[in-house]
Amino acid sequence: MQPFMQAMNFRHACKKFDPERKIPDADFQQILEFGRLSPSSFGMEHWRFVVVQTPGLRARLREVCWNQPQITDSSHVVVILAKHAAVEPGSNYVKTLFARRNLPQDAMDAYLDRYAAHNETEIAPYMNTFAWASKQCYLALANMMTGAASMGIDSCPIEGFSKPGVEDVLGVDASQYGVAVVVAFGYRAGEQTPRLRQPLEDLVEYR
Ligand SMILES: Cc1cc2nc3c(=O)[nH]c(=O)nc-3n(C[C@H](O)[C@H](O)[C@H](O)COP(=O)(O)O)c2cc1C
Repeated sequence: MQPFMQAMNFRHACKKFDPERKIPDADFQQILEFGRLSPSSFGMEHWRFVVVQTPGLRARLREVCWNQPQITDSSHVVVILAKHAAVEPGSNYVKTLFARRNLPQDAMDAYLDRYAAHNETEIAPYMNTFAWASKQCYLALANMMTGAASMGIDSCPIEGFSKPGVEDVLGVDASQYGVAVVVAFGYRAGEQTPRLRQPLEDLVEYR
């Protein structure tokens, strides 16, 4: 089987982690790297990764995450924050990230105009900036989980949380960031749950 397919089959939403097993530092750094290398719309890297390791903080986090045991029993917990203020058109952050491309000024201006126009016609009518930034964060989430699986490391994506609760526990500056999603990494304790998926023919159409 191809390595990517093996990783896809290995990954499942791990409900029960072995609290005794810790991910080696080098492996966890790789997982963070999978997030960092993820694609994002206009290359705005809408994410910030908060690694929550302090036991007391983990316990408080669990309380605002539906009391899910993965939060305290896993090896590492990452809260992915979505940058919403920074990615607003016209911000210094947007200019700085575009400037990395070393484009001539007219091309840079064209990019900034396109960015602002895209925001006006394709984002703002359908969702707020936090939702748009969160979509990008989920790409990082997926790459981190599948990448971890390729290394034999389990994960559980977690949306079962109170957004203001998590932001309060972590002291997030809500004017700049919002919690997109939480993800726990570690090693399974027990069997993988059966995979439930609809057949491909129910999901795909050709035109
Ligand atoms: C964004 C997202 C949020 C999720 N939140 C939770 C959660 O809070 N708790 C949990 O146990 N599983 C959570 N799941 C896991 C899903 O229930 C699971 O991925 C789905 O049932 C498919 O199972 P599988 O991932 O094992 O193939 C979440 C999954 C995703 C993608």
